[in-house]
Amino acid sequence: MAGARRTESFPPALTLTSTVVIVSTHLAAQPGDIADTILLPGDPLRAEWIANTYLDDVVCYNRVRNMLGFTGTYKGRRVSVQGTGMGQPSLAIYVHELLTEYGARTLVRVGSCGALVPRVNLRDIVIAMTACTDSAMNRLRFEGIDFAPAADYGLLRAAADRASASGLPYHVGAIMSGDSFYNDRPELTKRLAEYGVLAIEMEAAALYTLAAKHRARALAICTVSDSLVTGEETSSQERERTFAAMARLALDTVGAEPDPGGPGR
Ligand code: HPA
Repeated sequence: MAGARRTESFPPALTLTSTVVIVSTHLAAQPGDIADTILLPGDPLRAEWIANTYLDDVVCYNRVRNMLGFTGTYKGRRVSVQGTGMGQPSLAIYVHELLTEYGARTLVRVGSCGALVPRVNLRDIVIAMTACTDSAMNRLRFEGIDFAPAADYGLLRAAADRASASGLPYHVGAIMSGDSFYNDRPELTKRLAEYGVLAIEMEAAALYTLAAKHRARALAICTVSDSLVTGEETSSQERERTFAAMARLALDTVGAEPDPGGPGR
C-alpha cells in the first residue's frame, strides 16, 4: 500500500535477501533504487530499449505487471526509465508512487501522438506546453475549476533549444490528453484543432497535474506517429527511428542541467 512502509520476511529458500522493504504497491524498487530524474515511456519495452541503448550500469528495479523500470547513468548522471502503460489512470499510478515514495523530482514523458493540425507532420516532435483533457480525473479533483496542466518552463525551454540546435523538426504548444484512443466524437478533436491544439495523446495532463501537486518538474515530448488530418501513419521502423531521436532529446534535456545528486549517488 502506497504511503505505509512495511517489511516482510521471506524464507531464505524463496529469496536471496531475507528482508525486503515494501515501499509501494506497483513498484518493487527499494529505497534509493530510482533516480530523481525519470523518463516515462508508455511502453515498458521502450523503457528497456532506452535503458539498454543509452544508459550505462543499468539495473532493472521493477518487473511487477511487466511494467519495467530501470536505473542507470547517462553521461555520468543517474537517470531512471519507467514504463507507465497507456492512459492517464495507468500513468497516474506510477507517477504518484514515484513522487510520493521514491523522491522523483524531474519527470519527462516520451511518447507518441496523433497530429491534429496540417502544419504538424508525421515524425515531427511535439513539446507540450499544456494539455487539455476530457478525463474525469481533474474534474473530480478540482470540482468546478478547470485546472490548466502546464509543463515546467525550464525543461520546456531546454528541450526546445536542444531540438532547434539538433535540427529536429519540432513544435511547442498545447496538446490534448484524451481518454479514448478510439474516439466516438471526432468533431470534438476538430474543435480543439480550431483552437490551435497541435496533437492528441493520452497521458500528459495527468503527468503535469501530479507534478504540480507534488512541486516536481514535468515535460511531455511526443513524436507524431499518425495524423488525424491526413490519415497517414508511420511504419514501425520509422517509429523506432523517431523514438530514438526523441529519447536522446529527452536525455540531453535532463542531462544539460546541474546534477543535484551527482553520479552514483
Ligand atoms: N489518439 C490518436 N492518435 C494517436 C494517439 C492518440 O491518443 N496517440 C498516438 N497517436
